[in-house]
Amino acid sequence: MANDVQERYARAIDASKRVRWDLNNLLDGREFDLRRPFLPKGLSLENEFLGLSAHEKLLLSQLQGRTYANIFGLVERFISAKVLQLTQNYWFGDQVALEALIRMADEELKHQELFRRMEVMMTNQFPRGYKQAGDPNSVAQAVLAAPSWSVLALTLHIELFTQAHYRASIAPGTDLCPLWQDVFLHHWREEAQHAILDELEFRRVDSALTLEERAEGVDGLIALVGAVDSLLQDQARADAGYFSVLCGRRFSDPEIEAMVDNLMKAYRWQYIVSGVTEPKFQNVLKDMLNDAQLEKIAQALSPLAYAKPNEH
Ligand SMILES: [Fe+2]
Ligand SMILES: [Fe+2]
Repeated sequence: MANDVQERYARAIDASKRVRWDLNNLLDGREFDLRRPFLPKGLSLENEFLGLSAHEKLLLSQLQGRTYANIFGLVERFISAKVLQLTQNYWFGDQVALEALIRMADEELKHQELFRRMEVMMTNQFPRGYKQAGDPNSVAQAVLAAPSWSVLALTLHIELFTQAHYRASIAPGTDLCPLWQDVFLHHWREEAQHAILDELEFRRVDSALTLEERAEGVDGLIALVGAVDSLLQDQARADAGYFSVLCGRRFSDPEIEAMVDNLMKAYRWQYIVSGVTEPKFQNVLKDMLNDAQLEKIAQALSPLAYAKPNEH
């Protein structure tokens, strides 16, 4: 391994030790403040949901904030499993890279516990009836069946949008529920190292591929994004149904369909479009792929490209 690459794994370990936090210290004795929004407007796109009262918009932000935590809990199951698989390359080799990846997997296990505990707290603080789409283990098994290149591309994309969401929307949200915001501050601190490690591992895996294997990786990534999209469809439908419980009023069928469409736009923005348009993600792909492959990905994503905040 080149010295500068080894140095980056070593720096990730140092940063991971420096920012490490304890789950009990973060959560014990605290509750969500139901008078405040959870997910900020820049992510929830709440201004695009028409016909809701101010109180219903608050509930919408809290519902989306709950789903946001649960989606992280879900994807981190496959991320930690993937990282543990990657450690195999270093068992009898570079022990610094091994430690960096073990710490990352350990942090993702802690984050999953964080999101599970949050869901228990939310179950106690909100009316019954919330549903999470997708089982973390089944999703993880399906994702890990894809080529390594595809899984690492998806992972890098997720860990980059985690960074982008926190910096652009969550940190500046002065009106947000303090506990919800604090959770994502803590999460973001540990995720900063993950995005670096993802890129190192992604480049390492890419550099060993044949042209044919890389082409399979591109197809695998497109299929994974499609699977994410269909999971989001299920979640949007479940959340639209639960939203009427939260609001305590019946929505007509057309209102429910409009709610599903709006939630789908918000979720596509949060979990797909905001990540794939990150300049860092684009640049890494440009280093690896030829023009035809980049175009293939862009074409596959084009039906989702509408899902971003409206210009004001
Ligand atoms: Fe995480
Ligand atoms: Fe992570």
